[in-house]
Amino acid sequence: MALERTFSIIKPDATKRNLTGAIAKKFEDAGLRIVASKRIHLSKAQAGEFYKVHAERPFYDELCEFMASAPIVCQVLEGENAIAKNREVMGATNPADAEAGTIRAEFAESVGENSVHGSDAPETAAEEIAYFFSGLELVG
Ligand code: PPS
Repeated sequence: MALERTFSIIKPDATKRNLTGAIAKKFEDAGLRIVASKRIHLSKAQAGEFYKVHAERPFYDELCEFMASAPIVCQVLEGENAIAKNREVMGATNPADAEAGTIRAEFAESVGENSVHGSDAPETAAEEIAYFFSGLELVG
């Protein structure tokens, strides 16, 4: 199977608690290679643009506020079945439903402050990678 790439964010609740390394280790232990990584602090407008697909949902403002509340770490993860594998390692969106051993089961605080974001499909992965990284920044 060909290598696939997906986009990941380590969210403000996790960077604030110094969990960047612990979360990156979970990705690497699952066989995902971090081929790009950067720590940035989004403005609320930039967070709003990234999450615009959720603009009509009741939690949109809270989500954008949260994503702009502290630095995030954006990463591109590469591996076989990277999109599905990353979603498996992250666990369910709501930590109450996440399987033991997953990032969200171990670290997430709530459905909003859930430590990580990961792309859900090849098209969104390509769009999200391009939103944060130039081709020159992806080093396999
Ligand atoms: S999913 O995976 O798209 O089906 O999950 P979904 O429930 O649609 O949630 C999409 C993103 O919105 C965040 N979220 C919330 N933020 C704040 N408050 C509440 N109540 C809330 N519910 C969901 C959730 O963490 C998802 O973020 P990402 O970064 O896409 O995983």
